[in-house]
Amino acid sequence: MTTDIQDLLARIQNHRCYSHPIFRHWAQVNPEPEVIGALFHQIQHFCAATRPGGNFPGALDRLGMSEQSGLMQEIVESEEDHGPELAMMAGHIINRAARTQIHADLQDQAAIEKKLKSCSDQLLGSLPGYDPASGLTVQARAAISVFERRQRTDRDSTFRNLGTALALEMISNRHLIPGEKLCLVDSGLYRAALDEPEMHYLLEHWGEIGAEQTHEQNAIDAVRDLLTEESAELITQGADDFLDSLAGLWDVLDASLLKSGYTGDRLAA
Ligand SMILES: [Fe+2]
Ligand SMILES: [Fe+2]
Repeated sequence: MTTDIQDLLARIQNHRCYSHPIFRHWAQVNPEPEVIGALFHQIQHFCAATRPGGNFPGALDRLGMSEQSGLMQEIVESEEDHGPELAMMAGHIINRAARTQIHADLQDQAAIEKKLKSCSDQLLGSLPGYDPASGLTVQARAAISVFERRQRTDRDSTFRNLGTALALEMISNRHLIPGEKLCLVDSGLYRAALDEPEMHYLLEHWGEIGAEQTHEQNAIDAVRDLLTEESAELITQGADDFLDSLAGLWDVLDASLLKSGYTGDRLAA
């Protein structure tokens, strides 16, 4: 197992999750508002699961990695309260797509999220293993479960959690946030701009001064000095757990997105 940080970063960059086509497909397909709602439901729950630190920063501290603990704690604090802004952006995009106020009150996170779930039930509810109570696909639950390991405080789990955090922040900064910008803003589908107040979520996360850039640097700094023969294997496992499970979620959402785009009237039009 290599202990060179550059090799670990290259491994993450070469994972198929890092260049998954889902956001390019979104921009091409121009999905119906209901499809957008379903996708946001799954994405929103996944993102929410990645924000809390659980016992992870504390475990790092207790295991003698106080510098790493501080770097992870900084990320956790900067992620607090991002849920309402993500819901606002989802509602705004759906309103634009539908050309009507489906989500009349963009401040009402609960009401927006309720409608997103019913879109998900509609589009994805017949998939095997779909959970009617949460409205989550098997793949979303698997991706979320990787973050439940943050409740564990043993050494091996903590190293795995570091690998997960590194992969998460690289994916957020280089794939997920740029992907959202591509399909929501750059595509022109929603006449949306980064400086609209409803799009503040994306503005805050995107680019050179965005939150994700700082998170990625924190995660790289945290992992760099810890890489030994023993830890590298666990850290790599943690990164792979994240990348494999998120790629699985993207696959199922991508398939539903593409299917939705190639049926019905719009093919004939
Ligand atoms: Fe965030
Ligand atoms: Fe982040």
